[in-house]
Amino acid sequence: METVKVDLGQRSYPIYIATDSLAKLGEMLKLYKAGKRFVVITNTIVDRHYGEKVLASLHAAKLTAGKIVVADGERHKNLRTLERIAGEMLQWGGDRQTVVIALGGGVIGDLAGFVAATFMRGIAFVQVPTTLLAQVDASIGGKVGINHPLGKNMLGAFHQPRLVWIDTATLQTLPRREIICGLAEIVKHALIRDPAYFAFLETNLDKLLQRDHGALNQAIHRSCEIKAAIVAKDERESDQRELLNFGHTVAHALEAATNYRRLRHGEAVLLGMIAEAYLSREADLLAGDTFTRIENFLKRFPLNVKLDSINISLVEQSMSFDKKVKDGQIRLVLLRGLGEAVVTANWPAAALPPALEYALHCFHQE
Ligand SMILES: NC(=O)c1ccc[n+]([C@@H]2O[C@H](COP(=O)([O-])OP(=O)(O)OC[C@H]3O[C@@H](n4cnc5c(N)ncnc54)[C@H](O)[C@@H]3O)[C@@H](O)[C@H]2O)c1
Ligand SMILES: [Zn+2]
Repeated sequence: METVKVDLGQRSYPIYIATDSLAKLGEMLKLYKAGKRFVVITNTIVDRHYGEKVLASLHAAKLTAGKIVVADGERHKNLRTLERIAGEMLQWGGDRQTVVIALGGGVIGDLAGFVAATFMRGIAFVQVPTTLLAQVDASIGGKVGINHPLGKNMLGAFHQPRLVWIDTATLQTLPRREIICGLAEIVKHALIRDPAYFAFLETNLDKLLQRDHGALNQAIHRSCEIKAAIVAKDERESDQRELLNFGHTVAHALEAATNYRRLRHGEAVLLGMIAEAYLSREADLLAGDTFTRIENFLKRFPLNVKLDSINISLVEQSMSFDKKVKDGQIRLVLLRGLGEAVVTANWPAAALPPALEYALHCFHQE
């Protein structure tokens, strides 16, 4: 079992990474003295695969545990579901000593984490992420929240988990499209922080896409280290953590311009990274040959979405609504080289339409 620590003083916690470890979760929670009563919050799909395994593991360790199952999907990450979960917890006898276990992807992690942040003014929670994206990104850092009809993640909190338990075997049942989305965030980590990691990804992309255990475990470990280090330096997102937004300003605009329906978040991030790398080159920050290397790598992802009808001026419009606009200038995370990112409002606006055009047309469509 490998461990990565998230260093946050009194709120520090470990991330455990192993294959086939769900059955050992109960034992670990007992060792950890995390609490006596646990409530597993999951969705119907993840429950079908792993719900019983987790409950059995808790029961085997003689821990009291219940389970709350919600419907699958981003559209259920809302107040209504929060209210329903809180109701079930109250009826079940949940109290301040109850520990929430978030078993699922980022939707469940955000939702169950927000339940934990608010239930009786805050109770402990444990992340058991089962998507690649949640394992390398969403489960680490304590950002939790739900959506409001007027905007994504509009209600939320910072609430750190007590531990993150990653069983990489859960990725074997994940749809391929979700693997690609997780890999997009992994590539982002390499691009903003670590050129050697980028080279590793170049060499191992095919293995990663085929869910090779060794390659996946290595990537998950390195990405957890990178995310943990950034979170440790900047828990509340003032400067360092902003670097994690590389590719995301364009990605969020692409998602908004397609009504959050056509593109998965990670797919939008792949396109966003190409567009923002292009802008980095146009801003004279990134050398032309490095741009080409990045682009050649990103183009190897099998992106199976129709892109040609995306309206570029709508994407541009959505970008100006992004949260990171300060004083009318859009602040972007741009690359100065492999593994080196900067936040800047100083980039040529005229290069935006061609950058978007370029990103939307450079993928070989299956
Ligand atoms: N808090 C953060 O820092 C942070 C960071 C990034 C994203 N997020 C949030 O995460 C969410 C996206 O998370 P996601 O990409 O994991 O999507 P998701 O949670 O919707 O999971 C994707 C799909 O995979 C299914 N699934 C999950 N695990 C599975 C498994 N092991 N086998 C088979 N199917 C499985 C889910 O039921 C779902 O249908 C968004 O709501 C986003 O806002 C949060
Ligand atoms: Zn992201």
